[in-house]
Amino acid sequence: PPHRPLFGKHVLITAGPTHEPIDPVRYIANRSSGKQGFAIAAAAAQLGARVTLVSGPVTLPTPVGVDRVDVETARDMAEAVKRTLPVDVAIMVAAVADWRTQDVAAEKMKKRGSAPPALRLTENPDILAMVSVSDKRPKLVVGFAAETEKVIQHATEKRQRKGADWIVANDVSGDVMGGNINAVHIVTAQGVESLPEMPKDDVARALVERIADALVPPASS
Ligand code: PMT
Repeated sequence: PPHRPLFGKHVLITAGPTHEPIDPVRYIANRSSGKQGFAIAAAAAQLGARVTLVSGPVTLPTPVGVDRVDVETARDMAEAVKRTLPVDVAIMVAAVADWRTQDVAAEKMKKRGSAPPALRLTENPDILAMVSVSDKRPKLVVGFAAETEKVIQHATEKRQRKGADWIVANDVSGDVMGGNINAVHIVTAQGVESLPEMPKDDVARALVERIADALVPPASS
C-alpha cells in the first residue's frame, strides 16, 4: 500500500525570502530561493498531508498537491499564517526579514544632492515565536535556523527563545541559500541529530519522515 503516514494531517510550511519595500522600485531581501521549503512541502504532500505553503517571492513551480499562498512582506506572511491556523504541524522554513524600513517612500527616491539616504529600520513580527505561543498552537512547531557560526549552539538558543519544539539548523556560510545541497542538524528537547550533507529533496524527505514518526509513532511489531 502507498506510504501515507501524514494522511489526515494539515501541515503549514513557510518558504522563501520576504521583500521589504524601500520605495516603489526597491526592496530589502535575502538569498533564500525557497528550494528547501518547497521540497518539504512536496515531501509532506507525498506522505499524504494536506499542505498549505505560504511563500515569499520565489520563481519555483508549486509542488503537486500543495495549496500555495503568495506573500511579499513579513507582515503579509504573518497574516497568511494566522489565517491558516489551526494546523497539526507548522514548519517555518522562510528566511523572514528581521527588519523592514520604517517609512516606505511613496515615490522613487531620487539621487538629488550628494548624501545617500539613510534607511530607518524597524523590527518585523517574529512569525515562529507568534505561532509557538498561539492559542491555536500546532502539536508540532518546527523552526529553521540559518547560522554562519556556532551553528548548534545558536540553534539550541533559538529553540528555547522562540518556543519551537524542533529547530533545524543549517550552516549557511557556504552556498546553502539558493543552492541544491544542505546539511542540517535537528535540535529537539532530546538532543541533536546531524544528517549528512545531501540534496535538499532528501533533507526534506528525512525531515518529514521524522515528523510523521513524532506524530504517529510507528507500531512496534
Ligand atoms: O530557500 P533556500 O535557498 O532553499 O535556503 C534554505 C534556507 C537556508 C533559507 C532554510 O533552510 C533556512 O535556514 N530557513 C530559515 C532562515 C532564517 O531566516 O533563519 P533565522 O535563523 O533568521 O530564523 C529562525 C526561524 O525563525 C526560522 O524558522 C524563521 O522562519 C523564523 N522567523 C524569523 C524571523 C521572523 N521575523 N519570523 C520568523 O518566523
